Amino acid sequence: MVNSNLEGFYKKNFNARQKEIIKKAGLSSKEAKMLKNSGSLDSGLLDKMIENTIGIFELPLGIANYFKINGKDYLIPMAIEESSVVAAASNGARMARETGGFKTKSSKPLMIGQIQLVNVKNAAKTKKLIQKNSGKLLKLANLQDKTLVKFGGGAKKIEIRNIGAKMLVVHLIVDVRDAMGANAINTMCEVLAPEIEKLTGEKTRLRIISNLAVHRLAEAKAKWKQKTLGKDVIKGIIEAYNFAKNDPFRATTHNKGIMNGVAALTIATGNDFRAIEAGAHAFASLKGKYKPLTKFYKDKKGDLIGEIVLPVQFGLVGGTTKIHPKAQLCLKILKVKNAQELGEVAAALGLAQNFAALRALASEGIQKGHMKLHAKNIAMMAGAKNKEIEKVSKKLVNSGQISFDMAKRILKELRGK
Ligand code: MEV
Repeated sequence: MVNSNLEGFYKKNFNARQKEIIKKAGLSSKEAKMLKNSGSLDSGLLDKMIENTIGIFELPLGIANYFKINGKDYLIPMAIEESSVVAAASNGARMARETGGFKTKSSKPLMIGQIQLVNVKNAAKTKKLIQKNSGKLLKLANLQDKTLVKFGGGAKKIEIRNIGAKMLVVHLIVDVRDAMGANAINTMCEVLAPEIEKLTGEKTRLRIISNLAVHRLAEAKAKWKQKTLGKDVIKGIIEAYNFAKNDPFRATTHNKGIMNGVAALTIATGNDFRAIEAGAHAFASLKGKYKPLTKFYKDKKGDLIGEIVLPVQFGLVGGTTKIHPKAQLCLKILKVKNAQELGEVAAALGLAQNFAALRALASEGIQKGHMKLHAKNIAMMAGAKNKEIEKVSKKLVNSGQISFDMAKRILKELRGK
């Protein structure tokens, strides 16, 4: 049994930490070599990014193709472990291309910072005092980030919410431009809190960004031809949408499929995928019931229209995006000019992803395509190497029984030959 009490572990340098874990966990020399390969992230960078670093964890990086958004073509980088997600997104985009691709728009990059006031004695008076002094408070907030203000961003508005239980919450609305916004907002909130205490005589407690980015939304819309899909598939997609609209159990999976694409782009661009996920799911339940993030309907000609609205707290400056060399490389492939455009690409990607999943689910089912792609993983799990992988996966698909046992049997036969 290992002892997890690694005294002073965090103070050790990267190599010493690696060495300690290799020894403690009894890693083989092959495993140790694998751990020591840190790809594009050198140990100096890794040490600055998180604590107690011992290496990296890789994900496949794929490119979703066929995307046309507002008339511009994009190659979308996706970092994801699940097979068939990249293929599905590309497929959805290819079919939308027939009608000109995706049309998108988005709001300004406005994020919310929250300052909690607790045990409020006089809510009405406190609210009035904060409102009266909001100009002064906004000025003070903006002194914290002059660069943001220089680029047209900064604290724009103060709102006060009474959430009951003797609590008031001050919302500081900040235009964060090309940043995700957490750092700027948290700093502003921490500076404003004591000022608010002085002004009101009330007590503040939490001062933190809200990841429910309701003011930072991207929308995407696309049309898929009846001629291409067929009447019955369109009917099936609309039925699938209605299923999600009326059942949170289905809506969760529906939205998970959307986030397959969105999260993969989020990771590839070095963005905070937990923030994007949390924001998306909370937004989906904003009206009191968990709902699908997309909607589907037929136009007069019987073609299928799909729409999505998504909160998009993406950044291009600050944070990991700027320091992670692969994130920079992915952004070079993607070629977006600002965070708002990145958000719109995410919305289009989420819509394509969802369309492709619903199309498959409403017709042949998801497993046919998925298992075909998954067959390679199973072949590798069974021990297939190099050229064997393709051979085993092909035989697996042909056998109609894509299982681990079958893969082992095929591999054994192949090697026996
Ligand atoms: C699998 O990762 C995603 C799907 O389940 C999404 C959906 O059901 O809509 C296929």
